[in-house]
Parts: sequence; C-alpha cells; structure tokens
Amino acid sequence: MPKLRHRMSKQTYKIAALAGDGIGPEVMREALKVLRAAEGKFGFQLEVTEAAVGWAGIDAAGKALPDETLALCRESDSILFGSVGLPDRDPTIPKEERPERAALLALRKEFGLFANLRPVRLPAELAHACPLKVERQGDGIDMLVVRELTGGMYFGQPKTTETLEDGQQRAIDTMVYTTNEIERIARVAFQSAQLRRQHVTSIDKANVLENGVLWREVVTKVAADFPDITVEHMFVDNAAMQFLLRPTQFDVVLCENMFGDILSDEAAALAGSLGMLPSASLGATSGERTFGFYEPAGGTAPDIAGQDLANPIAQILSAAMMLRHSFNETEAAAAIDTAVATAITAGHRTGDIFSPEDPNAKKATTTQMGDAIAAAI
Ligand code: IPM
Ligand code: MG
Repeated sequence: MPKLRHRMSKQTYKIAALAGDGIGPEVMREALKVLRAAEGKFGFQLEVTEAAVGWAGIDAAGKALPDETLALCRESDSILFGSVGLPDRDPTIPKEERPERAALLALRKEFGLFANLRPVRLPAELAHACPLKVERQGDGIDMLVVRELTGGMYFGQPKTTETLEDGQQRAIDTMVYTTNEIERIARVAFQSAQLRRQHVTSIDKANVLENGVLWREVVTKVAADFPDITVEHMFVDNAAMQFLLRPTQFDVVLCENMFGDILSDEAAALAGSLGMLPSASLGATSGERTFGFYEPAGGTAPDIAGQDLANPIAQILSAAMMLRHSFNETEAAAAIDTAVATAITAGHRTGDIFSPEDPNAKKATTTQMGDAIAAAI
C-alpha cells in the first residue's frame, strides 16, 4: 500500500486526533509529543486538530461521532484515534448509539477502511511478560495480523433481534463476503508478506462455513499472483491453538473480520501486553493518498484511566504506522520504532510490562515513558 512520492517542498499532513475515552487522552498526549519530536527532526509539518469522539463526543455534542468531528476527519489526511467505549456508562442508551458502533464501526464504514494491520512483536527484553514458556518463544514472536474490517458478521444484513410468536427472541447476525472483498484483503496480506518473511497463513472455517469455502478459493486464486509467497490454509480453531503451541510459525496471518478480532487479541497477549499493540486501518489508495485510521488495539482501560499509569507505546507505534502507511515517511516511522525499542532496552516499564525479577526494569508513568521515547528520537 505505501507509495512513492516526489518531494518538492516541505510536506504538511493534516491529522485528526481523536483521543476518545478512558486512557485515550493520556496516551494520545504522549503520541503527539513523540510526533512533534519526529516533526522537528525529519522536516515535515503536522497540522493536528483534536476533536471529541466516544463518550467524550456524547458529552460534548450529544453523539458519539459529532458532525464536527466527522467533518474534520473528512478534510484530514489521516485519523489518529485513541479509544472509545466505557462499559459502565449509561446502560440505557440504545446499542446503535453506543460509541463502539456509532463512532468506531461508523468510521470504519464511512472511510472504507477494509484492511486492518496489527503487527505483533515480542521484544526479547519482554520475554517474561509473555504468558508462554520461553522455549515456545523461539527466536521471538513476530507476526502481522491482517484483518478484514468492513465485512463479515460485523456489518452483514440482516442484523436484528426479533420477537417470535411464542414470545422468544431471536438474534440474527449475518456473515457475508463477496469475492471482491476477499480478494482485496488477500492482496494486502500477500503484499505485506513480500516485505516480511514471505509467508501467509490464511484463516477460515471451510469445513463448516460457506464463507470459509469461498475465502479459501479466492485466497488460493490470489496466491497464484504471488509465486514468491508461501501460503498455508488453517482452520480458525486450530490457529487459536497453534498461536499457543508454536507462535513462531506465523508471519502474516490473514483473517476475516470476526476471526481477526478474536485472534488479534490472542496474539496481543503473546506480545506481553495489549498496551504494546498498534494498528492501522487502511482504505483504498487514491492517487497519492492512502487514508488511514491509526489506533492502539488495547481499548479504554477505564480501571487505570486518568492516573498516568497506561502504557502509551501502542498509541505511539500507531503514530509511527501513520507516518509509514499514509505519509510514506519511512525514516521518521523507523525512528519512532527504534526510539520505543531504546526506551524498553533502557528499562522503562509501565505497570503492564513491569516485572520485579527484571534487574534492569524501572517503573515508569505514562508521561515518563512518552518522555523517554521522545528523547530517543
Ligand atoms: C477491535 C475492537 C472492536 C472490534 C470493538 C471495540 C468494536 O475489539 O478493534 O478489535 O470488535 O472490532
Ligand atoms: Mg477486538
């Protein structure tokens, strides 16, 4: 997806920064700090506008995705997103108006963000934070989950709950995929594998689901265009098991929406903490531009919100993915990745990745972690 661009003058990038709820604002603050450090060093210009989303949007403007926020997104080059959703807030609000659907899923659909990239890496220093025995970690876990994001059961129609004649209720979600939807996400997976270890594991449930049979057929066809890539098909239940038994066999993992949601959380646990997992959600490239939506995978973590305890790394790495995938600022993106590694090597640890047995580890607040990473740019 990244493309080359000829530079004449200093590039300006318009970013909509939507921090959202829970730990969103504090991790966003650190990501913006790191982006500013990269801006100074790499000579591009960032035009960052912050706007309300999620419960913050409901509080400010009466809905999870206020019109003003949507308008800002439409005129921006990319969206840097925090997280939305507070399970304990107002259970009476209709499910369609809750932030997860009304903001997050709505933005995915609105901008056609069909390709969700979730890189999962366990740094050697954090081996202790991985729930697997060290023997199973091999030379390190390093995979990329490529999740289809605008199809399948999340969006398929009918999607409803109806009351039957006998008074029971019946809930219906529909899993639906077209050839084109499968083909375009498969291409993203194969192209991603070309930049990695040339291996794609395609996940399906072809032994039971019609969707699985079509998925496997289309992926096999797309694979013919990528003779340099090895493709393997795996049932989703087996994949869930293989993640735990031999996670090092995976390079690129290609999944439909729902399976990708589940497997990417499992993969995140392997990487030590959800607080380490960034993501990019990309739409089609049009001309020079790949519009993207960048968010940490970890959620709002309301239990630690506002206490300067959250790990800002997922948000910071999401900002690096934005520089790479939307702006083709590969050097700046790599500098952020390296700065994160440097901070970890130096022993900075938020609570989620802290281990008292690690002699090198120093407890860090959200702010201290952000400072250490910005300083290492
Ligand atoms: C994710 C999240 C979302 C999803 C929720 C918050 C709607 O779990 O991005 O993985 O299910 O896609
Ligand atoms: Mg999820």
